Amino acid sequence: MSGIKIVGTGLGVPNRVVTNADIANLVDTNEGWIVSRTGISTRRHLSAGETILSCTLQAARAALAQAGVRPEEIGTCLVATLTPDMLVPSAACMVQKELGLAHDAVCFDLNAACTGFLFALHTTECLLKSSRKKFGLVIGAENLSRITDWADRSTCILFGDGAGAAVVEWREDFPSIEAVLGCHGDDRVLRVPGVETGVRSLISMEGTHVFKFAIQAVPYCVDEVLRRCSLAPEDVDFFVFHQANERIIDAAAKRYNIPPEKVYKNIQNYGNTSAASIPLVLAELQTQGRIHPGDRVLVVGFGGGLTWGGALVEFAERTPL
Ligand code: COA
Repeated sequence: MSGIKIVGTGLGVPNRVVTNADIANLVDTNEGWIVSRTGISTRRHLSAGETILSCTLQAARAALAQAGVRPEEIGTCLVATLTPDMLVPSAACMVQKELGLAHDAVCFDLNAACTGFLFALHTTECLLKSSRKKFGLVIGAENLSRITDWADRSTCILFGDGAGAAVVEWREDFPSIEAVLGCHGDDRVLRVPGVETGVRSLISMEGTHVFKFAIQAVPYCVDEVLRRCSLAPEDVDFFVFHQANERIIDAAAKRYNIPPEKVYKNIQNYGNTSAASIPLVLAELQTQGRIHPGDRVLVVGFGGGLTWGGALVEFAERTPL
């Protein structure tokens, strides 16, 4: 046995709140349609003076402070993002610079779209195990307003900016998070062209296809994680689903008979923040004192790629050095 547990979380979201009415000034849409089809009321977008790095640093500092871990104790720093401020240096290298992480800390960015935080969590568990380092910083950060097509009403209502971070501790006697990860290699239903393709780097999505994919991917991940951990749904203390659409979350809750107090939603406030979505939920849950050491949290993500992932995450008090 060996694995990681979360010992601290933090979030950093932009100050500017964008309402559904604000978006209805740009495209032909309305409050009723957006709320009933997605569950989103507001989202945060970066404004002048803010960068996704500033949100990332705010989240990382909060997570370190809550964990009581010094920057120089961090052995790995992974930033899951598809929208870093710069391609080189990576966001993770900028976190290393700004926070003063050790020179031998392994720092890199990772893109698995909205499943990125789970890919980063699993990669961190593997890296810490192989290097015998104790602490990892796992971040999800996105500036989706920058790649939003403001002429496309079916997508521009959905996305928000922000960053969430978790400090994890690796120990021989912690269980593995038992991550289930995969992808379909689909380049059709959800795309963001790169900078050299000659096409504007904006999100395009066949929403209904993604919705159908998500409705299948979520239970697949829940079932696989439960099977690997030999648990039943009622053994799980909290379910955290990627915040892409309230109807997808509600469908999963209904399928597994999960009582409302075991599912947390903040999509109404932040919209879909891709890789930041899951750590934003984890940070709010911990701040509100709703997750306790030993609680089992089943986390599920899905997104472009098409990627999916699930894991069983536990929180712990930090072990004194
Ligand atoms: N306001 C008003 N009407 C809108 C609208 C908007 N913002 N966007 C689309 N519509 C219209 C469409 O034009 C269509 O009209 P029509 O029937 O006259 O052709 C109608 O609403 C239904 O469109 P559809 O795309 O079928 O809606 P939907 O119920 O599938 O909801 C999404 C659209 C995007 C909200 C939904 O598909 C979704 O959330 N998909 C998953 C997205 C996701 O998770 N993406 C990220 C992956 S991590």
